[in-house]
Amino acid sequence: MFTKTAKYYDAIYSYKDYEGESQLITSIVRERISNANTILDVACGTGKHLEHLTKKFNCTGIDLDAGMVEIASDRVPGVTFHTGDMCEFSLRTKFDAVLCLFSSIGYTKSVERMEQAVASMGMHVKSGGILVVEPWLTPEAWLVGHKDSSTYETDEFIVTRMMVSEPIDRGRLVLEYMIGDSSGISRVTETHEMGWFTHNEYLAAFEKAKLDVEHLEQGLTGRGIYIGGKP
Ligand SMILES: C[S@@+](CC[C@H](N)C(=O)[O-])C[C@H]1O[C@@H](n2cnc3c(N)ncnc32)[C@H](O)[C@@H]1O
Repeated sequence: MFTKTAKYYDAIYSYKDYEGESQLITSIVRERISNANTILDVACGTGKHLEHLTKKFNCTGIDLDAGMVEIASDRVPGVTFHTGDMCEFSLRTKFDAVLCLFSSIGYTKSVERMEQAVASMGMHVKSGGILVVEPWLTPEAWLVGHKDSSTYETDEFIVTRMMVSEPIDRGRLVLEYMIGDSSGISRVTETHEMGWFTHNEYLAAFEKAKLDVEHLEQGLTGRGIYIGGKP
């Protein structure tokens, strides 16, 4: 995952409108739970959604990668962060809304683990609350051999990232980084093992977790969104 590149994550995804997405999330939550107060962001990354959501809600974040959690903690000091796996975590508290955004669910790789993640996250939703999951690409949308390369620059470094998608397992992304900074040029390779899931597999996971699921086709960024209401 981003173990070797957490430091470059915000530069690489600087095109993302986290503030606008957070406004949409706030609307989604408030339309369904007018007095919502608590939010858990699962796979919170560097805390870019929580930075905005914390102005409206009492927020908590959790991510598998300690490097990402460290950056998030520095970014949003008032928020409690945990390190943990979305498939098997227990915070012993429940929230009005639990979020899992920017396709992080894809890192569960298999249907079995995706279902475990939806169940674990669902366990942390209060009765009357919601679980919001922004899915990863479906098998039909996955373009085998898709290639992409971009360069990002800050005062501290310049990083070029090249990406190729492979058809292995349920989809694998190989990412190659060239990083230039005051110490010279270095090269980092990352393999992101992700799982693509079908619409029906997502619906079944929510149903197994006893959540009343609805699907918004556009969602936050065009990838759609699943919203599971807890009776
Ligand atoms: C594409 S990033 C999204 C981060 C953040 N939600 C955002 O919108 O920028 C995927 C995140 O999922 C985290 N992640 C991957 N597998 C995970 C797991 N099993 N449990 C918790 N977090 C995980 C990664 O560490 C990474 O921070």
